[in-house]
Amino acid sequence: MLVPLLESGLRIEGFDSSDEMLAYCEAECRQRGLRAGLSRQSFEDFSYETRFSAIILPAGSFQLITDGAAAAAVLRRFHDHLAPGGRLIVDLDPIGCFLAGGTSVRSWVTGDGDLLTLNDQHVETCYIAQTTLSHLRYEHWREGSLVRSELDLFKLRWWGVDEFSMALLAAGCAEVEVSGNYEHGRAPREGDAIISFEATRGAG
Ligand SMILES: C[S@@+](CC[C@H](N)C(=O)[O-])C[C@H]1O[C@@H](n2cnc3c(N)ncnc32)[C@H](O)[C@@H]1O
Repeated sequence: MLVPLLESGLRIEGFDSSDEMLAYCEAECRQRGLRAGLSRQSFEDFSYETRFSAIILPAGSFQLITDGAAAAAVLRRFHDHLAPGGRLIVDLDPIGCFLAGGTSVRSWVTGDGDLLTLNDQHVETCYIAQTTLSHLRYEHWREGSLVRSELDLFKLRWWGVDEFSMALLAAGCAEVEVSGNYEHGRAPREGDAIISFEATRGAG
């Protein structure tokens, strides 16, 4: 997400709580001769001197904050880092994506001919906390033998469209525009794969 914005000439900073993810981003920028302002910070306690004209959380990353009160505090922190008139842009997956359940398997062949598989199994849904738990099992195979395996207990929280708009307003945002499938200004509808919220900084 950060790379095309840098390429288009925008000044942009990025953070992630994972050194490994930051290293991938840094490498992608270096390959293109771009200089990225990257830092290791978390949603819960990030801090900048700068106030931004836009803050973007792509790819449903906000759903990784599974506690409602913690999510509200993070929205307030994002709001407080906006310059007057600045915009907070957040992508969320529609609820249907969470409740579809089931199992999926993806696989990749590495440059060395090894096989990587990702087994995604939905194991739990909590309708009160609005969370799902999936077991993401990563496996690395070489010549038919398992080299390494890793299990990620992957928890996400879903949000209703009106619920998230209200959470943005409660965080101090003045206006909220909601779009479906990246068609800016077109209200979300059944079957959309992604819902984008764009909120402006309030006066408070
Ligand atoms: C769906 S990925 C998005 C990666 C990248 N931002 C992009 O747009 O391609 C979610 C990212 O959120 C990061 N993450 C998870 N919990 C976080 C937290 N509490 N604070 C900051 N980043 C977090 C993960 O390390 C991961 O890189």
